Amino acid sequence: MTPAREAKGKTLIAAHHDGQSALIPFLQYCQEEDGYVTPTALDDAATLTGLTRGEVESIASFYSLLFQRPIGKHVIQVCRTLACMLGGADELRAHARARLGVTDGGTTSDGVFTYEEVECLAACDKAPCLQHNLRYHYNVTPAEFDRLLEQWKNERPEAAMPAE
Ligand code: FES
Repeated sequence: MTPAREAKGKTLIAAHHDGQSALIPFLQYCQEEDGYVTPTALDDAATLTGLTRGEVESIASFYSLLFQRPIGKHVIQVCRTLACMLGGADELRAHARARLGVTDGGTTSDGVFTYEEVECLAACDKAPCLQHNLRYHYNVTPAEFDRLLEQWKNERPEAAMPAE
């Protein structure tokens, strides 16, 4: 573990009062630093928190905004559950895949956008909806998706998940 990472981990543990409570913020920090939660980050988290490597990996895999593979700076997650399906999500998903040139879980060839189809985002009354990094967008039509995509291409993305 690098000294900087160890120092950050100790700061987070002190702020959250124990290693287990500091696990997610520490993994968020590692993701911001490395672009995703690397195997080394999982090892470091286990060392810092006192959890087993398996426990750390299991917890990390539960959260849809922690990624254990390289991802783009922009993460687009389109809801595929019933209310959104009824509201046009099938058309939106097909359009998004075609525009980005990826399938579910894929990252564009330039490494900028990662695209996922996810379960209910709890905004069923505004279907279809999607999440871009930490921001929700509602009633998204294919035309609105195109507008958002152009906007995202021209802006510096916020972190997919902030460390604190
Ligand atoms: S079904 Fe899409 S947000 Fe609930």
